[in-house]
Amino acid sequence: MSDYGEDMDVDVPAPSNGITFSSDNAAKGKRSAANLPVEAEDSLPWVEKYRPATLADVSGHQDILATINKFVDSNRLPHLLLYGPPGTGKTSTILALARRIYGNENMRQMVLELNASDDRGIDVVREQIKTFASTKQIFSRGGFGRGTAALAGFKLIILDEADAMTNTAQMALRRIMEKYTANTRFCIIANYSHKLSPALLSRCTRFRFSPLKEADIRVLVDKVIVEEDVKILPEATDALVKLSKGDMRRALNVLQACHASSTPLQPRDGPKIAEKNIVRDTVTVETIYNCIAAPPPDAIQDILRTLLTTSDITSCLNTINTLKVARGLALADIITSLSEEVAQLNVKPEVMITWLDGLASIEHRVAGGGSESVQTGAVVGVIRNGVELMDQ
Ligand SMILES: Nc1ncnc2c1ncn2[C@@H]1O[C@H](COP(=O)(O)OP(=O)(O)OP(=O)(O)O)[C@@H](O)[C@H]1O
Ligand SMILES: [Mg+2]
Repeated sequence: MSDYGEDMDVDVPAPSNGITFSSDNAAKGKRSAANLPVEAEDSLPWVEKYRPATLADVSGHQDILATINKFVDSNRLPHLLLYGPPGTGKTSTILALARRIYGNENMRQMVLELNASDDRGIDVVREQIKTFASTKQIFSRGGFGRGTAALAGFKLIILDEADAMTNTAQMALRRIMEKYTANTRFCIIANYSHKLSPALLSRCTRFRFSPLKEADIRVLVDKVIVEEDVKILPEATDALVKLSKGDMRRALNVLQACHASSTPLQPRDGPKIAEKNIVRDTVTVETIYNCIAAPPPDAIQDILRTLLTTSDITSCLNTINTLKVARGLALADIITSLSEEVAQLNVKPEVMITWLDGLASIEHRVAGGGSESVQTGAVVGVIRNGVELMDQ
C-alpha cells in the first residue's frame, strides 16, 4: 500500500496554525500585492507595500527566475532550497511562485507556510506537516484553477528561515520529504546553508540568492521615489543604493525613514495639512548617511589624511576622538570605512598587509567587547606602523 494511501484521500481543511494566506477576504474587496486590504496600504511599511507580486516583479536573480519558471512551465518542480543574505528576495520569490502556480484563491488550500515565528519543533514536523502533506487534493488538475493554468498536482510546503529549525526537526523532515514527494514539494529558505543538515541539502535543488547588484536595487528605489513622490537629490540616491550593500529591504527602509524625517510634523491642534500641500525638505546625502549611521566620507577622509601625514600620535588621537564626538561615530564603523579607503591607496605590499591585517585584528577585538578608547589607539598605531614602513 502506498505511503499516503493509508490516509483519507480527501482534502481536509488545512490547519489554521501557520497558514498565512487567506482567500476569505478575496470576495470582500481588492487585495494588494502583500495580500492585505488596500485600505491598509497607506500605513504599510514600503517593504511590504512594494513586495513583488509576481515573479516578473522580482529584481535581479534572472538566472534563478528563468530556471524556476521553466520548472513550473514543465510542471516539474523539484524540492527547492533558497539561501542567501537577508533582504535579497527569497521569501518574495517563493510567495510569487506559489501565487503563479495556484493563483491567489487556491493558495490557502495548497500552501502551508511555516516560518520562524511558528513553532517548528519535532511535533510540528511530525503532525502538522505530515497531515498537510499526506492529504491529496481531490480537485487537483483543472476544475477550479480560475485564472491559472491547470492547477499543479502537488501542494507546496514553505519552510521559511529553516536554519532556525531544531536539528531533530530537520532530521525528521528527511523521510517526510521522500515519502510525500508524489503530492508535495518542499521549499526551504535559509540565510546560511551550513546550518541545514547535509541530508536535507542533498534532497533539494539549491539556489543561492547573492546580494543584489546596485542596478537591481536602483530599479525599485527609483520606482518608489516616483510613486511616493520622495524629494531626493540624485547623489543621495547613489549613496543610498551603494550603502544598502545588496540588501533591498535596507534600501527601502532607509528611504522611508529619510522621507518621513523630511516631512514636517502636523500641527497638534488645528486642522491637518492636506497631503498635497505638505512641503517636504529634500533628502540629501547627509540625511542618508545619518540614517544608516555610516561615517560620512569626508569624516573618514579627514581621519585618514591626519593619520597618514601627522607623526605626532597624540594629535592623531585627538583628531579621531574629536570627530567621533562631533559626528557621533562608532569605532566599528570607522574601521570598516577606513579599511575600504586604505585598500584603494597605492602603496607597497608590506604596508598594505600591515594596515589590513592590523585593522582586521582591531575589528575582531572591538566586536569582542574591547574598549573603544584603547582600540582607537590601536588604529592609530596600525596606520602609523604602515606609514613608517613606507620609507624603508
Ligand atoms: N529581488 C527583489 N526584488 C524586488 N524587491 C525585493 C527584492 N528583494 C527584496 N525586496 C524587497 O525587500 C523586502 C524583503 O524581501 P524578502 O522578504 O523577500 O527578503 P528575504 O530574502 O526573504 O530576506 P530574509 O532572509 O531576511 O527573510 C520585500 O518586501 C521587497 O520589498
Ligand atoms: Mg525571508
